[in-house]
Amino acid sequence: MTTRFPGRLAAITAALLATGLAASGCAREDAGTDNSATDGGIVHVACGATEDWCAATTKKFSETSGLKADFVRLSSGEALARIKAGKGNAEFDVWYGGPADGYSAASAESLLEPYVSPNAAAIPVKYKDATGAWTGVYVGALGFCSNQKVLAERGLSVPQSWADLHNPKLAKEIGIAHPSTSGTAYTALWTQVQLAGGDQGKGLDYMRKLHPNVLQYTKSGAAPAQMTARGEVAVGVIFSHDCVATIEAGFPDLKVTFPAEGSGYETGGVALVKGAKNPVSGKKFIDWALTTEAQEIGPTVKAYQFPTHPDAKVSDKVVKLDSIKLVEYDAVAAGEAKTALNKRFDAEVAQAPKS
Ligand code: G6P
Repeated sequence: MTTRFPGRLAAITAALLATGLAASGCAREDAGTDNSATDGGIVHVACGATEDWCAATTKKFSETSGLKADFVRLSSGEALARIKAGKGNAEFDVWYGGPADGYSAASAESLLEPYVSPNAAAIPVKYKDATGAWTGVYVGALGFCSNQKVLAERGLSVPQSWADLHNPKLAKEIGIAHPSTSGTAYTALWTQVQLAGGDQGKGLDYMRKLHPNVLQYTKSGAAPAQMTARGEVAVGVIFSHDCVATIEAGFPDLKVTFPAEGSGYETGGVALVKGAKNPVSGKKFIDWALTTEAQEIGPTVKAYQFPTHPDAKVSDKVVKLDSIKLVEYDAVAAGEAKTALNKRFDAEVAQAPKS
């Protein structure tokens, strides 16, 4: 079992957190202060969507607004660690994309500046935080991304349930990310908790039983799509739209299925970082991210999430959410549990001594 990678991740995360502690220890006490007078007409975005979407979105925002924008693509846990490390000397103005439970975890640590955009009025209540900490910009459902050729070679058909993934014939044939870094993987973990009636121990039991079938816990949530496409694993547990994008990129053998027990889903968020150095521009970015114009960019770069704006055009490649069984997914509860549950996952599943 290859589990050295999570060890490295833990070290990177620890280093980032340590930087954060060091930075906040000697920082100016300006987190949350009003920097609007010195706003530089630029937005630094911690971007959790795909690289292509981040690039297309920041470019379009610049063209539309005349403001500058740049981004760093970060998985959910990395974004959280970097925003924490920047407390008192913010590196980013806005966090955009990636599941909302990461935003809720950040909000619980006072790392976000609540901002209710006037444009948030158009976004349904279920896709935004009640306190204004974050607003949803897209919705995506978890699914299984199967390489049908590899499965056929093993005499297996495509998985139709979470239980199917425990099949011993799938030993080291599953790709999934590590929930400490990846919002996708945390969505999968929290889904198991929900399917176990909210019992975190039982959710971890599911992942422990899955562990022998996992080839490697990747850093980013979408990485198993490539692994599945290349035939390194038979099945990737990823957001279904990341599989659709990979099929479109030239891997027609891949197939998306959804678990019969119920699947988890993400609300991709957008939020203002507390202490943002460019808060005026940051708010303009958030306002714009909630428009139909911004939410229709995804499909132009093969990103097929469901837009949260009810008037945004929906590509026919976007999965119809009401056609699949979804678990109840409370991003606030999931966010509150995130840090401790990920620690348990690491100790009790990924790094657990072999019995
Ligand atoms: C991909 C998906 C997004 C998702 C993100 C989470 O970019 O297209 O819908 O929000 O992954 O990334 P992570 O690396 O944190 O799992």
